[in-house]
Amino acid sequence: MSLRSTAILSAVGLLFAGSAQTPPGETITVDASRPGAALNPAMFGVFFEDINFGGDGGLYPERVRNRSFEFTEPLYGWSKVDQGGAEGELNIRTEGALNASNPHYLRIRVYSPGPGYGVTNGGFRGIGVESGAEFVFSAYVRTPGTGGPKSLKASLLGGGNNVIGEATLAGFSSQWRKYEATMRVSATTPRAQLRLMVTEPGEIDLDMVSLYPKDTFKGRQNGLRRDLVQLLADLKPGFLRFPGGCIVEGRRLALAYDWKNTVKDLAERRMIVNRWNDEFAHRPTPDYFQTFGLGFYEYFLLAEDIGASPLPVLNCGMACQFNSSETAPMDKLEPYIQDALDLVEFANGPASSKWGAVRARLGHPAPFGMKLLGIGNEQWGPRYIERYKRFAAALKAKYPEIQLVGSSGPSPAGQEFDYLWSNFRGELKGDIIDEHYYMAPQWFLANSARYDKYPRTGPKVFAGEYAAQTAGTARPTNRNNWEAAIAEAAFITGLERNGDVVTMASYAPLFGHLDAWQWTPNLIWFDNLKSYGTPNYYVQKMYSTNAGTNLLPLQINGSAANPQNGLYASATLDNRSGDVIVKAVNATASTRPVTIKANGASGASARVITLASGDLKAENSIEKPTNVAPVETAATAAAGAFHLQLAPYSMTVLRVRAR
Ligand code: AHR
Repeated sequence: MSLRSTAILSAVGLLFAGSAQTPPGETITVDASRPGAALNPAMFGVFFEDINFGGDGGLYPERVRNRSFEFTEPLYGWSKVDQGGAEGELNIRTEGALNASNPHYLRIRVYSPGPGYGVTNGGFRGIGVESGAEFVFSAYVRTPGTGGPKSLKASLLGGGNNVIGEATLAGFSSQWRKYEATMRVSATTPRAQLRLMVTEPGEIDLDMVSLYPKDTFKGRQNGLRRDLVQLLADLKPGFLRFPGGCIVEGRRLALAYDWKNTVKDLAERRMIVNRWNDEFAHRPTPDYFQTFGLGFYEYFLLAEDIGASPLPVLNCGMACQFNSSETAPMDKLEPYIQDALDLVEFANGPASSKWGAVRARLGHPAPFGMKLLGIGNEQWGPRYIERYKRFAAALKAKYPEIQLVGSSGPSPAGQEFDYLWSNFRGELKGDIIDEHYYMAPQWFLANSARYDKYPRTGPKVFAGEYAAQTAGTARPTNRNNWEAAIAEAAFITGLERNGDVVTMASYAPLFGHLDAWQWTPNLIWFDNLKSYGTPNYYVQKMYSTNAGTNLLPLQINGSAANPQNGLYASATLDNRSGDVIVKAVNATASTRPVTIKANGASGASARVITLASGDLKAENSIEKPTNVAPVETAATAAAGAFHLQLAPYSMTVLRVRAR
């Protein structure tokens, strides 16, 4: 990957040294009678970016690719159909366009219709449909001449080109208007095609052609793919960071993410090329564009729907520093800062305010309650510091209640990292600093104590993007296997133990389309019909669904040293459920007999949730989505302690009632 040439570590073979010799009968002692620092109970969240077809072609379930004919090649994804000698012509035109943000449209001119003349669309690597599902087929249509075609027939073609769904639009005039009809599908296939046919001579203009499922999460219009959102909701995420990632920055400033463009009417959201379209020569994705059908309103709604706090990240006047590094001059920064101020009003302002009214018009009069805002994504250097300072001054003056998230750059250590941190600890007095680590599993195992030595005052840490890379940073051969996941599990005990410093954590990237990804590993994989969580997903879930509200003092074998010989642990009290929660990661090849004593806990039985695999190469898949997944059992206390056998390469969560 061109993004990060550093930190490429090899991860071949078995990870964990030692441990055939681990002592029998180790002890983890937790003092539940002495709750310590308060934790952010919403510490574990999700990081979303439209990479790997995670947005268009994924979470955003529009089935028609290039629906507005605005790809660089305007007919990309569309092909001509001229059945049985039909004659006609396809033209991309701009005269009398739908609107200025959507300047191209398709004109179908039919000379001799025969059995039908028109176009097909192949969707996002095929159109995935389930038997019985209903879709809304819609398009903006006009017939410019007199006596043009009176109807447009849409057919969904399944295997063998069998028609598995139909809908007809009719009654056109010489003015653009949106027409829609319901299409019910009679067969399941991941690779249908949508065919649009005209059976009368004349001219017909089309734009914003859409095939949209009725079955979205919570049944929302322009809503999101149900199974993918469900996987997010199951994590009970504390926050949702959006829209990225490098996508925020753009390769050039003209391609930076512009949130205001994304809260307009769908047909007026100006589309741009996705910055991941050609980032990787080894994974070119020429059909990857951002329609912004999934825009800021949809992100805020998603956050609300999954119970997560919204964390938008905005461009700070800097394009991606791995690409053009184009920077808005300081005297041209004002529009970027105004965008940030307006975003707070969009999210939190009353419906009577300018931007609150936009939110209300979109359907949400009540504020979204945004408390966090990211200034820039992966920025570094003095140019970033200067710009952050200006943003912070304006935002803190008007909205002191908003916590700002600053960047510590792309690497978890080094000169740039130190420079940024010293500025945030010093004059800038940062609130929360975002750290990224795309490192080898060994790094994760070796760095669980990373935050033990961080100062207890000053900015908090957001472990905003992390994922163990089994082959090297963003290498296409990285795997979402248990080797990576158990290393992350071990590392995260250290995030939790330092929960007074580390306030938020999220794995990255979130989604990968099995037929259209650019970057691996990813937390959740999907195809056009199905999806599954990786072992890494279940590690995140173990933490996010077992988070606590206060740290508890913990010792392994009578000492605060942690980890010990491949045994990592953390403990919290959850004063909402009244549970003491102990997490133990056995990162060795041996079974570890461990006694867990929670002084101050009264429960005679405990819930024990285990995530384990003896095979470090184990993965989940569409066929075996829960090959590595948590299993819950119960344990009974003997003389006030729980005696567990920690399986080789396992993560265990024990929950017992506090006194
Ligand atoms: O998660 C993939 C990319 O990694 C993100 O877009 C960026 O922030 C980081 O370089």
